[in-house]
Amino acid sequence: MRAWRVVQLGEPEDALQLIDLAVGAPGPAQVVVEVEAASVNFPDLLLCRGQYQEKPPLPFTPGLEAAGHVVEAGPDARIALGTPVIVLPKAPNGAYQELIVCDAADVLPLPPGLSSRDAAALYITYVTGHLALHRRAGLRAGETLLVHGGAGGVGTAAIQLGVAAGARVIATANGARKARFCKEFGADVAIDLAEEDFVEVVNRVTDKRGADVIFDPVGGEIFDRSRKCIAFEGRLLVIGFAGGVIPSAPANHLLVKNYSAVGVHMGLYRRRNPSVLAESLREVMRLYAEGAVKPYVSAVFAFADVPAALRLVADRAVLGKVVVDVR
Ligand SMILES: NC(=O)c1ccc[n+]([C@@H]2O[C@H](COP(=O)([O-])OP(=O)(O)OC[C@H]3O[C@@H](n4cnc5c(N)ncnc54)[C@H](OP(=O)(O)O)[C@@H]3O)[C@@H](O)[C@H]2O)c1
Repeated sequence: MRAWRVVQLGEPEDALQLIDLAVGAPGPAQVVVEVEAASVNFPDLLLCRGQYQEKPPLPFTPGLEAAGHVVEAGPDARIALGTPVIVLPKAPNGAYQELIVCDAADVLPLPPGLSSRDAAALYITYVTGHLALHRRAGLRAGETLLVHGGAGGVGTAAIQLGVAAGARVIATANGARKARFCKEFGADVAIDLAEEDFVEVVNRVTDKRGADVIFDPVGGEIFDRSRKCIAFEGRLLVIGFAGGVIPSAPANHLLVKNYSAVGVHMGLYRRRNPSVLAESLREVMRLYAEGAVKPYVSAVFAFADVPAALRLVADRAVLGKVVVDVR
């Protein structure tokens, strides 16, 4: 079977090689999944560059999530052949390969009615968003939610989940095209960062109250300036650092403005408390079935073009999600 392997660290075009790889037999509690679709997440880039918090030894296949079906199962795997699943594979066997041998615990049966493209695009972004907004921030109907990176993967998920929770959603993005997209995707207010100062707009549209919950996958100056438009008892969610700079919040500022900075690490729940993820996924699926959420897949790439798919994300040229068709 064909697999994309990171053979040296660097930009996707230099780091990745398409090779033929033998597939091992599954262990007693393992399955083999034939991948139909894999989605691109920002951490894939960091994995190629060797900048992600996890640094698998070379060579390895990147890719954090895929959808497909079970084609082989060990005797203790307790899953029927042919079952459609979401896979959250572990290094060195990530999502960008045609077949993945993984623990049965790393696959989740798909509910009926979910296409493999939507399934591959949905898990990490929407479960992260749900966990962040509900479990970590306790977002309530009627509150104001500010979503940074609103046109990106986790940002689009946070916009839809915020709207579904009855919040008033303000989104930020760079450029008129992305800001317009955020509005079309459900945000009540969209701010083009190239044209407007988001602190001024948020304070203006909330009558100086500020945003109750701020969802920040960007970091750096965006995080810093968010502290100037957060409400009394606000929750500033630390989701990621797509801008490349890790910021900090002075403890005296948390005190005098009476707000919280809240870390969110979806992957950690896989080890510490998987039932929390299962509950978030159930809620996301319920919202999907009701038509309240649906990932926005703006580009689908052929399996041979994985480096180009990652390049689109690296160049900040993506709206929503990019999916790789592996069939
Ligand atoms: N905490 C968790 O559990 C968790 C889970 C999933 C993802 N994440 C993190 O969340 C972040 C976003 O992931 P994603 O998959 O949503 O990425 P994405 O689709 O590429 O979106 C990131 C957004 O960040 C903005 N951005 C600002 N500065 C940027 C820069 N220098 N380079 C690239 N983008 C920049 C871009 O919007 P504009 O161009 O409009 O500024 C872009 O739309 C990443 O840091 C990722 O590691 C965390």
